[in-house]
This record gives sequence, structure tokens and C-alpha cells, in this order.
Amino acid sequence: MAFPDHRPRRLRNRPGLRRLMRETRLSADRFIAPLFVRGGKGVRTEISAMPGQFQLSIDTLVDEVKSIRDLGIPAVILFGIPDKKDGRGSGAYLPTGIVQQALTALREKVPGIELIADICLCEYTDHGHCGVVTGAGNAAAFSVENDPTLEILAEASVSLARAGAHVLAPSGMMDGTVRTMRDALDREGFDQVPILAYAAKYASAFYGPFREAAESPPQFGDRATYQMDPANFREAVTEMRLDLEEGADILMVKPALAYLDVIAAARARFDVPIAAYNVSGEYSMIKAAARNGWLDERKAALESLTAIARAGADMILTYWAKDAARWLAGTA
Ligand code: PBG
Repeated sequence: MAFPDHRPRRLRNRPGLRRLMRETRLSADRFIAPLFVRGGKGVRTEISAMPGQFQLSIDTLVDEVKSIRDLGIPAVILFGIPDKKDGRGSGAYLPTGIVQQALTALREKVPGIELIADICLCEYTDHGHCGVVTGAGNAAAFSVENDPTLEILAEASVSLARAGAHVLAPSGMMDGTVRTMRDALDREGFDQVPILAYAAKYASAFYGPFREAAESPPQFGDRATYQMDPANFREAVTEMRLDLEEGADILMVKPALAYLDVIAAARARFDVPIAAYNVSGEYSMIKAAARNGWLDERKAALESLTAIARAGADMILTYWAKDAARWLAGTA
């Protein structure tokens, strides 16, 4: 054969050939849109660290979810911002909780889209940690108590399922969460509600903008005793295996872009659907660069989403869900 071997570039020479060779295809079918809901009426407050994302009240949320559905996106995931926070995070499990109310309204007014409820205490606790805390206020000596937190998560699961959640997504990284939730759901007749487990969730700097959006930064200390060390890979595999053994239906890796190796490993090792969370910081840094004219937002976002899919994610939680659906449909 002549040198050089021109097989690689021969297949890139024409647009139609490039389309035929494309190995990963994005479509709105993969997307899950994260949304932030709070009390009030007519609220649509832009999150300053996340341009294009809003805190919504239930009425504006209903409109937003309709437009997401009409773009062909199969699901949304809801995060709540309660009026009041307390030590136990009661806003997470009370039937009057903001997400519970939102689910009831969406079930009635927006059929035809899957409603995923995130389950965690950090948005609802006054200290901002994802579980029950002893020694609150003492950054050096506080403790996030695993087992007492499980009881609250079980209660929250049943409450959210009762309010109409189609899927529950525990994000707090407490040991035993999935089995505790599964048992509680099955006991209460919700054996058809799947659990999308945030299985490998890292203690990441890329959650910064979300914590502004959800008003949930820890008031003291950090999340290093429950979220994973970014340096660890084997531990992620163990976390995912444990969640699967406990009954998780779908495994999630979070964040996505800095953890593509973990997504690829999840895909290779576990024959269940894999989700990845293209988190707030991954969104905001491209937004910020685009605003400065340093990056083309559309190209950088679609490249990110394609890479996450190529690594092995079947579904992607992304703040670009609506924009990307429009870009892919050629309507924006
Ligand atoms: C709550 C939760 C967080 C995110 C999703 N669920 C924040 C955190 O763990 O501090 C982050 C999502 C994002 O950054 O987009 N536990």
C-alpha cells in the first residue's frame, strides 16, 4: 500500500461521508432538564451564576415544563428552594413541600413528560449539609449522621412518590440510601417508581453555581465526608456496585466532563442505563467564555454533550437541554 495510508482522511472529505461515519448521535431523547422551583407567583429570577437558568414559582414552572416537553425532551428533574429551612430538612418530606406541590401541579397540567424528583436534604437544612448534623457550626468537629438521615430520606421518597414523582433521584451520598428508599417505596405501593442513583458523586468545585441557584451552600465545613474524592476511580466502581446491589435502576456519574473515565467504566461494567450530570460549573464556564467572545457556546456545548454520550452516558442531565434540542432540530 502506498505511503501514507489515506484511509483516515478519505472518509472525512465529504459532508455526507462524515455524516455516515458519525459514531455518536445526540438527540433530545437523551436529555433531562434540571429546574429550580420556589414559592410565590410569577417568579422567574435569573440565577446570576447560571445565565439562562431561572428560579421559578409553580405557575411559571408549569409553562417552562410545557415548553420543554414540546421540544421533545423526555424528562425534567426538580430541585426545591423552600421558604424555610430547619435542622432536619423538613421541607424535603412534608406533603406541603415545594417540590411536592410542584409535582401535583405538573401531574395535573403537563401530561406527557417524566417528572424526576431529586432527593437530598441540603436545600432544606439550615446548615446546608446533605444529612442530619451533630456539632453544627463547628467546621472542625461536626458530623453528618448517616443512619438518622436515611429515615428522613425514606419519608421524603414516599412523600414525593405520593405527590406524583415518576422517578426518584437520591443525591446525598449517604450509605444505604438506595435500599432504604426501595424498601419504603415498595412498602407503600410504589414498586413501579424507579431510582436513579447519584452513585458516583464527587466533591466537586463544579457545583459552585448550583449552590447559588438552590441556595444550598454548606454553612460550615465541606462535603468531603460524604461526596467522593476526585482522585478516586476504584471507589466510584465500588459505589456504583453497591447502589446496584441495593436496587438502583439507573446509575449516575457526576460531574460529567472531568469524569469521562468513570462514565466509560460504568458503561463497560454495568449493564444498566447510565446517566451523567453535566453540572452547573460545566455550563457556567462555557457561558462565561462565550459572553467574552472566547468560545462559540453552541459548538462547545454540543461538543461537551457529544463527549459525554460517547463516553457511554445514555442520558444526560444538562442545563442546555432546551437550547440543545433546538440546535439539533435546526430551529435555533
Ligand atoms: C444536592 C445536589 C447538588 C447538585 C445536584 N444535587 C449540589 C451539591 O452536592 O452540593 C449539583 C448540580 C450542579 O452543580 O449542577 N446534593
